[in-house]
Amino acid sequence: MKNPYLPLPMRLVKNFIETEDNLIHTFTLEFLREEDEKSFQYLPGQFAEVSVFGTGEAPFGIASSPTEPGHLKFSVAKVGVVTTTLHQLPEGTILGVRGPLGNNYPLEEFKGKNLVVIGGGFAFTTLRSLITYILHPEHRGDYGDLTVIYGARNPGLLLYKEELAEWEKRSDINLVCTIDRPVEGWNGRVGFVPAVTKEVAPSANNAYAVICGPPVMIKFTMPVLEELGFPPERIIMSLENRMKCGIGMCGRCNVGNKYVCKDGPVFTRAQLNQLPNEY
Ligand SMILES: Cc1cc2nc3c(=O)[nH]c(=O)nc-3n(C[C@H](O)[C@H](O)[C@H](O)COP(=O)(O)OP(=O)(O)OC[C@H]3O[C@@H](n4cnc5c(N)ncnc54)[C@H](O)[C@@H]3O)c2cc1C
Ligand code: FES
Repeated sequence: MKNPYLPLPMRLVKNFIETEDNLIHTFTLEFLREEDEKSFQYLPGQFAEVSVFGTGEAPFGIASSPTEPGHLKFSVAKVGVVTTTLHQLPEGTILGVRGPLGNNYPLEEFKGKNLVVIGGGFAFTTLRSLITYILHPEHRGDYGDLTVIYGARNPGLLLYKEELAEWEKRSDINLVCTIDRPVEGWNGRVGFVPAVTKEVAPSANNAYAVICGPPVMIKFTMPVLEELGFPPERIIMSLENRMKCGIGMCGRCNVGNKYVCKDGPVFTRAQLNQLPNEY
């Protein structure tokens, strides 16, 4: 049996500055061993523990999609010890990765349904994975309409700008990007995500909503989704509780009787309604 605490060695091949404030970088990591790449079978929504040797380990949602073989991507905000060290690492550095961990977005349940993906700030990472997966030619036919509402404080803080530009050109995704306040040269929407969701008013008919973002965005978007008719079983969220082991062993991440690392991080609103408000 494999030791679940043993990280796989991966090479940092790209340390890309994602946002103009330089606080979010996207890291592309390549597997060193072919057998590790084969065994690392993941789906959108899952996360991994990334270790910077000599500094520590931290959990990050996997931003790449399994439809992009050969590498993993993580978009990381500089907030503390591990993430600050990570931001400074030169390309070529060997890192450790444990995973894939946690559950994934319910892709089987989504089949044949319309999807409304709502993201805010840098919590767009596993949503990028989900969108990339659904847009892949092998999968696109399995899902209905795809509406994406994505907000950031200003255009420079949007993640994955090149991909957003590509998605904007496609007819099989309705992408709505919004920023908080008007800025010269910005032709998209202006307004907070909850207000823009209300304006766009995606139909709840035969649809799921997937939402990831800062707590304040979630708090004010939730009543909008309810008003639009999305039942709690069809609102999918991803939690980011503090974690240590990531495999249901240490008890660090629990909410009520659920381990966010193992039973989550993906939950429906209906499941979260049953849990104490500790997330
Ligand atoms: C399932 C999951 C997925 C995640 N995905 C991402 C991701 O894709 N990108 C990303 O940038 N971050 C993500 N995070 C958060 C990330 O794990 C933390 O920011 C990271 O552990 C901080 O490590 P550090 O050593 O740099 O910070 P520390 O030095 O440990 O702490 C620095 C500061 O950050 C706070 N902090 C640490 N961990 C968390 C946390 N989990 N939530 C809130 N505050 C915290 C501390 O209280 C402290 O104020 C995710 C967390 C989880 C559990
Ligand atoms: S992080 Fe250890 S039980 Fe979840």
